[in-house]
Amino acid sequence: MNDRKMQRRDFIKVMAAGSTVTLLPSVLTACGEKGETGLEAWTGPMPGETDIRRIILSYAILAPNPHNKQPWIIDLTGPESFDLYVDRTRLLPETDPPFRQIHIGQGTFLENAALAAAENGYRMDVDYLPRGIYENTVVENKPVASVTLRKDRAVSKDPLFAQILTRQSNKRTYDDISIDKAILDTLGQTSTAPNMSIGLTNNVAKRGKLAAILAKAMKIETSDKARDLETIAMFRFNEEEQVKFRDGFSVAQTGMGGLMKFVAEAFFLDRKSTEADSSEFGAQAVQITTDQANSAAAFGWITTSGNSRLDQVLTGRTYDRVNLKATELGIAMHPMSQVLQEYADMSDLQREFLAFLGVPEGHTVQMLFRLGYAEPVAHSARRYIPDLIRS
Ligand SMILES: Cc1cc2nc3c(=O)[nH]c(=O)nc-3n(C[C@H](O)[C@H](O)[C@H](O)COP(=O)(O)O)c2cc1C
Repeated sequence: MNDRKMQRRDFIKVMAAGSTVTLLPSVLTACGEKGETGLEAWTGPMPGETDIRRIILSYAILAPNPHNKQPWIIDLTGPESFDLYVDRTRLLPETDPPFRQIHIGQGTFLENAALAAAENGYRMDVDYLPRGIYENTVVENKPVASVTLRKDRAVSKDPLFAQILTRQSNKRTYDDISIDKAILDTLGQTSTAPNMSIGLTNNVAKRGKLAAILAKAMKIETSDKARDLETIAMFRFNEEEQVKFRDGFSVAQTGMGGLMKFVAEAFFLDRKSTEADSSEFGAQAVQITTDQANSAAAFGWITTSGNSRLDQVLTGRTYDRVNLKATELGIAMHPMSQVLQEYADMSDLQREFLAFLGVPEGHTVQMLFRLGYAEPVAHSARRYIPDLIRS
């Protein structure tokens, strides 16, 4: 390994271990030319916005979604209605070959939308896959949902709405504090579809085994260059990339900030060399995943007996609610999906994982996530609402 590589590895190790971070004067936390940061969406709708569809979309876009791809297209179909489509230019074919996770990300979007509709006095009626359901091998050019908003005095506001601007996927190493069973019970009571269940555990032995599986899964994931490149394509190496693309994720979501982030981005993180040789990236991903998984105070998972496009979308709605409820309870949360993924290299470990959790034959674990206590991290970027709207 050359010197530069070694320095980079050591530096990122320090970062992964969660060292103290110095706060930087704002002059070093570079913004885009027009003062953009990519994070504008996290203040909610534009001041003065009166179009109910745009108000709702401003909250929907903040939903959790795979690699922060933001795979959403909106057709405005009427003054109080819109259709949601998967953006087929924003898929993750290497790590999500059946596009299952992309469809979970449609459900998270719809759940945030429904919460925002209720908050604004609207009932949101959803007609799922109104032009027909399609198979898990394709994403057809058909809407995932037709949404109709109806002003309704009887609609009740949902307290989870208040968490939308705060919710995040927190990828820090979590504090060594246990989570009470009562909190897990509350999260476990999140509404589900009839064929869906939520599993949760804070058991030490189970956590240890799951952490070992997750580290192994990341090792498998990063053993393939095409998969690495798909992930690297969504990694934002500096603020300039974040402002330019307004999607993806960066070291900021692992808790790195201030001077450390500045130094990392200036001297150690470099798109060209990482793409040319992704072995270092893979090794770091395994190390960081190991630390993240070992620090989990609990794990949760959402299982469905079926695995249709509708099951996947409904999983997204439930996952979003669990994430928002955890936010309300002051609990950090972070999906760890590698072992759930459907490419051939993962199938042996996935079988071991499903057997360990006692998942019935043929059922699908749609989401797996860790829970714990941690300081918040920086939010990830979002695009502008007009960028989602096709017509
Ligand atoms: C279906 C799905 C799978 C995800 N899998 C992972 C994962 O394996 N690892 C990870 O770090 N984050 C994962 N995430 C979290 C996303 O990276 C995160 O939602 C996205 O970057 C946006 O960030 P935010 O949730 O903080 O707004 C997943 C999210 C969803 C909805």
